[in-house]
Amino acid sequence: MSSNPSADEGSIVKIGVLGRGTVGSALITLLEERADVIQAETGLRPVVSGVLTRSLGNGEGIVDEADVIVELMGGLEPAERLVRRALEAGKPVVTANKQLLSRRGHELFPLASANGAALRYEAAVAGAVPIVRVLGDTLSATPVERVHGIVNGTTNYILTAMAHRGESYAEALKDAQDAGFAEADPTEDVSGSDAAAKMALLAMLAFGTWVSHEDVDFTGIDKLALEDLEFAREFDLALKLVGTAEKIGDAVSVRVHPMFLPLSHPLARVDGSYNAVTIESPHVEEITLQGPGAGGVPTASAVLGDVISVLHGADEPKHAWQTLPKAPEVLSAFYLHFDVDDEPGVLSEVAQVLGLQKISIRSVAQKGAGGAARLVMITHRAPESAMEAAIGMIGGLGFVRGEPRAIRVFDEENA
Ligand SMILES: NC(=O)c1ccc[n+]([C@@H]2O[C@H](COP(=O)([O-])OP(=O)(O)OC[C@H]3O[C@@H](n4cnc5c(N)ncnc54)[C@H](OP(=O)(O)O)[C@@H]3O)[C@@H](O)[C@H]2O)c1
Repeated sequence: MSSNPSADEGSIVKIGVLGRGTVGSALITLLEERADVIQAETGLRPVVSGVLTRSLGNGEGIVDEADVIVELMGGLEPAERLVRRALEAGKPVVTANKQLLSRRGHELFPLASANGAALRYEAAVAGAVPIVRVLGDTLSATPVERVHGIVNGTTNYILTAMAHRGESYAEALKDAQDAGFAEADPTEDVSGSDAAAKMALLAMLAFGTWVSHEDVDFTGIDKLALEDLEFAREFDLALKLVGTAEKIGDAVSVRVHPMFLPLSHPLARVDGSYNAVTIESPHVEEITLQGPGAGGVPTASAVLGDVISVLHGADEPKHAWQTLPKAPEVLSAFYLHFDVDDEPGVLSEVAQVLGLQKISIRSVAQKGAGGAARLVMITHRAPESAMEAAIGMIGGLGFVRGEPRAIRVFDEENA
């Protein structure tokens, strides 16, 4: 707890900080460093009135004492219980917790509105990149057609190491862990689940509809091989973990998958732990925002921006929340990779299975190596369910070695 003897009591605003890890400790430092500027700007001097960790503080007591609650613990419990307590008391909450909002947002946002309390979450998506403000405020009256994002810094760091340094997935992951960009248990990031949570929030903002984590289809990067990155280099492509939220008719599709992008795409050259989001709308064409997606100080800066908005009494972005259905089927072009026995008839059998699912092949390359061959194909756009069925059937053919890989290819037609 800090205090400022020179500030008069009436101007003090008590900030309860739930969580003092990477982001929480950076926020506490920034609050102290920037207190004079914030007071000059808002007329209110922020003072940390309580801090909760696993071994320090009482969550309920901190919430009850503070004027503004900043939740930086992550996870569902006890974060949800304490955020609800604050909102029910009409207290503003700032959080960076995408897992909480993407799973409980459909209850927490109405609870905030019903109690006239702010619920702000700029840092929950893409760290310091101010995408929540841009979608929820600046572009709130703009019809958004599609949002693409690289919204997970860990996976982008790993893919960049594989692409630029020729590291295997395992080496690049170890590198990311040593450099502090990946957790000891990286599952949440490498499975695509973290990016799925962020894309659910972006879809909510872009389309004013409830989207929960369960509505997002996602695949991670843990099955990618160095050969896929080599293919990308050979054909002037970038391989990225891309989140897409798009309106298809009156329905919404939100998904996260590895994707080959042409180098001309704004996300293709976003490297390392950086994040970027591209917004497409007929009114504004295309806007891309890019910056640090994680890290204590960058993320805490975004949190502090939300705290200052709360102190200013800024209006909450308003949404005409609705419930749009999930789009039933999405079309994608695919890159397919099969390791097969080098024997006659292999290509025609694979082509036959694809034909059965009405998937047409755009290009094919076959390379033999001893008794084995590598078969690489690019398909035209096909329903994803048809591709899944075809891959299942091809994987069962006797001459296929290992697991076939199917990776989406960005297609201008379909974007
Ligand atoms: N790190 C980033 O770069 C980044 C970027 C964007 C968003 N975020 C989000 O920001 C939030 C915080 O992330 P972080 O990286 O700062 O996490 P962190 O370093 O793991 O810190 C979490 C803090 O919360 C406390 N905590 C966790 N569970 C608790 C419990 N059950 N009871 C009491 N205290 C508990 C921890 O206590 P102990 O100190 O006792 O362990 C720790 O102080 C998360 O929602 C995360 O998704 C993080």
